[in-house]
Amino acid sequence: MRYKDSMILAIETSCDDTCAAVLDEEGRSALSNIVHTQTEHERYGGVVPEVASRAHLERLDGVVEKALADADVTLDEVTRIAVTVSPGLIGALLVGVSAAKSLAYAHKLPLTPVNHLEGHVAAAYLADPTLEPPFVALIASGGHTALYSVAESGMNLLGETLDDAAGEALDKGARMLGLGFPGGPAISKAARGGDPSRYDFPVALKEKNNLNFSFSGLKTSLLYKLKALDAKGVKEELTHLAAGYEAAVVEALSRKLLRAAGLHETPAVVVAGGVAANASLRRALTQECERRDLKLVIPQPELCTDNAAMIGAAAATAPAVPYPDYLDLNARSV
Ligand code: KG4
Ligand code: ZN
Repeated sequence: MRYKDSMILAIETSCDDTCAAVLDEEGRSALSNIVHTQTEHERYGGVVPEVASRAHLERLDGVVEKALADADVTLDEVTRIAVTVSPGLIGALLVGVSAAKSLAYAHKLPLTPVNHLEGHVAAAYLADPTLEPPFVALIASGGHTALYSVAESGMNLLGETLDDAAGEALDKGARMLGLGFPGGPAISKAARGGDPSRYDFPVALKEKNNLNFSFSGLKTSLLYKLKALDAKGVKEELTHLAAGYEAAVVEALSRKLLRAAGLHETPAVVVAGGVAANASLRRALTQECERRDLKLVIPQPELCTDNAAMIGAAAATAPAVPYPDYLDLNARSV
């Protein structure tokens, strides 16, 4: 019989995914993990904040119900609510925070506020329940690209992007290439069979000990390459351009992550966030980490992109606000 005495119900609505999950109180195993990805944004080529808030409002009840049903748990069996409170789109976050507060208050439960980025890192504990700090974590998503050293006591920022996030660079590159949204998977698909070395794309901030990222030069480089081609040329070269662009993003990310692990002498590295779903990044890091005898944890793709199981995993080791002290808890965009 499954032990059902202590359960976390986690909610995540920081961007364009409406998510709920149920986890055990240890937070190392998800009994359900429901993600509704909003399709309303596709035609705009990017997430529209107000559209996201409305879609969360319409979907969240159903997503929470499905998470409970899939876990075979009733609300009466839930012992704690967890919710993303920052960073993210303020209206979108507020939908999740209001729902979490209402559920927690109605059932006299404690509530744990969770930082979205800590959630992405905590996905690694679900992927590998034996993982323990210290490790270096790379978060590469549509909104963030940053390196952290992770210790028992918390996360410490080592470096971050000076301009676009890696996912944003992929999304913008895909748009320039006339591919779909989200750009990461679209570029990967278009790059299949392409020659990544046919075009020379820049990898910025290569100098020693630099742990920051920059993707604006890469974008400009693609723009100039496209300007030099006519429509027929773009069509013919698309697969090579996509392969080269993707390879430059992958190289920037893996180079800095491995450098950070070397500088901080950690035995393990973690990659999280939507871009960690990228197959060629996973391949490159698997090879490099084997060579350096580094433990590598990259959660499976559905735990890399936004989800609520990672929020529950982060909540498991964070303090809960007791009932009813969380009524004035607020969401923050940064
Ligand atoms: O973490 P996430 O789901 O949402 C944010 O918090 O931003 O990340 C979304 C980003 C998008 O930019 C998307 O293009 C990228 O992750 N992404 C990928 C892949 N799947 C999603 N990038 C590269 N390869 C993928 N397979
Ligand atoms: Zn995210």
